[in-house]
Amino acid sequence: MTIAELKKVYKGKKIFLTGHTGFKGSWMLYLLHHLGADVKGYALAPQRKQDLFNVIQGNSLCTSVIADIRSYKKVEKEIIDFQPDFIFHLAAQPLVRYSYENPLETIEVNALGTANVLEAVKKIKKQCSVILITTDKVYENKEWIYPYRENDRLGGHDPYSMSKACAELVISSFRNSYFNLADIKNHKKGIASARAGNVIGGGDWSTDRLIPDIAKALCAGKPIHIRNPYAMRPWQHVIECIGGYLELGAALKNDPVKFSAAWNFGPTALDNITVEMVLEEFIKAWGKNTSAVKKDKPTVHEAQFLSLDINKTMYELKWAPKYNWKEAAKLTAEWYKAYDKKPASVAPIMTETIQSYFK
Ligand SMILES: NC(=O)c1ccc[n+]([C@@H]2O[C@H](COP(=O)([O-])OP(=O)(O)OC[C@H]3O[C@@H](n4cnc5c(N)ncnc54)[C@H](O)[C@@H]3O)[C@@H](O)[C@H]2O)c1
Repeated sequence: MTIAELKKVYKGKKIFLTGHTGFKGSWMLYLLHHLGADVKGYALAPQRKQDLFNVIQGNSLCTSVIADIRSYKKVEKEIIDFQPDFIFHLAAQPLVRYSYENPLETIEVNALGTANVLEAVKKIKKQCSVILITTDKVYENKEWIYPYRENDRLGGHDPYSMSKACAELVISSFRNSYFNLADIKNHKKGIASARAGNVIGGGDWSTDRLIPDIAKALCAGKPIHIRNPYAMRPWQHVIECIGGYLELGAALKNDPVKFSAAWNFGPTALDNITVEMVLEEFIKAWGKNTSAVKKDKPTVHEAQFLSLDINKTMYELKWAPKYNWKEAAKLTAEWYKAYDKKPASVAPIMTETIQSYFK
């Protein structure tokens, strides 16, 4: 879709965006603001001064509610007060290694948090399109090269993947029980889940993620530590992913019966590449290789092969990735280089990325 087409759907509409202080949520907020949407965000406070939400001055782009997704009463109040046209639920504990140390918190935030949002949606009387963000890791990973389709079995070796697979079950159960498609005329709710691959892009400073680890090391001139160089993942630039969420939201509003389902968002098969290849491309785009690369051994189980089949999304939603992995890595490196020189320069870069992506 183009910016003009997206504006037709989202301009002036009320969007309840959870996780708006996070990496993807801040990009989403920035894009929705660009489209003229009225956004209420719901998340925990940003953790670091350099978090993207602070850099884009997120407080000025939305009504920002800082609260816990595990508090049902608060979630319900904020949703009911706002009466959203769309809900994008991104708030989560999204880190695999952290989830090994904190499995209960991860389950509560990811599975119960999703249930809290859907329980509150039951109280909205008007039409509402709800897009719940899970992950490519919801599939039972068979450690093979074949890509996973939306109708493949759910699973989850590590607590994070399991918690998101649980969230998928929550979504499907609420859809069957309270937002059944046979009864759409009465409840008027479209309920979809979006399963995206590994997202890269400027503004992610999370712990134990590839790009933030590389960027932090390069900015500080320190050695880069990578844990799983030969692991293959479906990498995509953040603009692809959030653009996909918005296109899904638009489709869900128009045809909630057809689009109330799960959708994969990822790169095409040729762009499923290894951690090491992304690292090398990032360093090349950075332009100077001052930091040594140290290959550490993974300390917890992480899948070796993970790829997504995006055929259903391409044929039914007519969404397809626009950037290949080299372009995604280059755009990402350019963002961090600009941030390293002058943090305030990244907002115009993000506007340019949005304009060229949706032209
Ligand atoms: N980044 C990726 O590569 C990737 C890939 C697939 C799916 N996802 C999913 O996309 C979503 C966004 O991920 P991200 O990379 O932006 O993560 P992030 O850590 O940058 O942001 C997480 C957001 O969730 C909020 N949050 C966390 N715990 C909360 C709680 N208890 N109550 C309220 N809010 C809470 C945070 O405040 C933050 O706004 C998540 O659902 C994640 O699982 C991310």
